[in-house]
Amino acid sequence: MLRFEHIGMKYKTLTGYTEALIDVNFDINDGEFVTVLGPSGCGKSTFLFIGTGLTQPTSGKVLLDGKEITKPVKEVGFVFQDHLLLEWRTVLNNIMIQGEFRNLDKNITKVKAMELIRQVGLEGFENKYPWELSGGMQQRVSICRALVHEPQLLMMDEPYGALDALTREQMRVDLEKMWMQKKNTILFVTHDIDEAILLADKVVILTPRPGRVKEIVPVDLPRPRNMAVKESGEFLALRKRITEIFTEMGILNED
Ligand SMILES: Nc1ncnc2c1ncn2[C@@H]1O[C@H](COP(=O)(O)OP(=O)(O)OP(=O)(O)O)[C@@H](O)[C@H]1O
Ligand SMILES: [Mg+2]
Repeated sequence: MLRFEHIGMKYKTLTGYTEALIDVNFDINDGEFVTVLGPSGCGKSTFLFIGTGLTQPTSGKVLLDGKEITKPVKEVGFVFQDHLLLEWRTVLNNIMIQGEFRNLDKNITKVKAMELIRQVGLEGFENKYPWELSGGMQQRVSICRALVHEPQLLMMDEPYGALDALTREQMRVDLEKMWMQKKNTILFVTHDIDEAILLADKVVILTPRPGRVKEIVPVDLPRPRNMAVKESGEFLALRKRITEIFTEMGILNED
């Protein structure tokens, strides 16, 4: 569905340039859940922006269903690292913005928005403003906003980074449940090893900046992945392997 071919990205700076990505190659199949795992600053957000056409790479190309992306694609849902809700709009109206951008039928979008609000446990909050919600609730609104136009491809940039561990765990379980029903394709960026394994069909591990694919680790754990999976031998073996890759790259230091 989505193919990254020799993607490179150099940002111009005042004194020269910053090389964020170098020769990144991999494919995401239709309906696949792919997580991208890498240290801070290795180019993960850059990579997602390139994948949606919001940023043009300085080398290489991205193909969506065989066609090269040259401008922002509408078929994608994007959950940003920072939730970016509009403070002057209510929960419902923040979600409805997607329909406005795309000229979708207002009534149909509203029905879908209300259904999503219910699914993420925010029923009764639809007319509240972002500042009346907790951080976790705000992030749930931004997930609804990314889903309301029913994109086949969903990009998520560390969507749970600002959440506490318990909320994070619940959001992970909920996201997997939604994905198992909708069968959309998800590209999910994180720097949490457990989260990367628990969500993924495959984990793409990036090197420190400039980001490059270090290894792609397939994950074959049974779904849904409940709390017990974390104690299974297969999960622990995967975690050990990925931890070793990071130690090898000098990112985790045990001395
Ligand atoms: N618009 C920009 N202009 C110049 N440099 C940029 C720009 N955006 C990102 N960079 C640089 O590119 C590199 C990768 O940034 P990016 O935000 O993609 O990293 P990341 O992996 O998402 O990091 P984090 O995990 O902290 O979110 C960084 O060194 C950053 O300084
Ligand atoms: Mg980032």
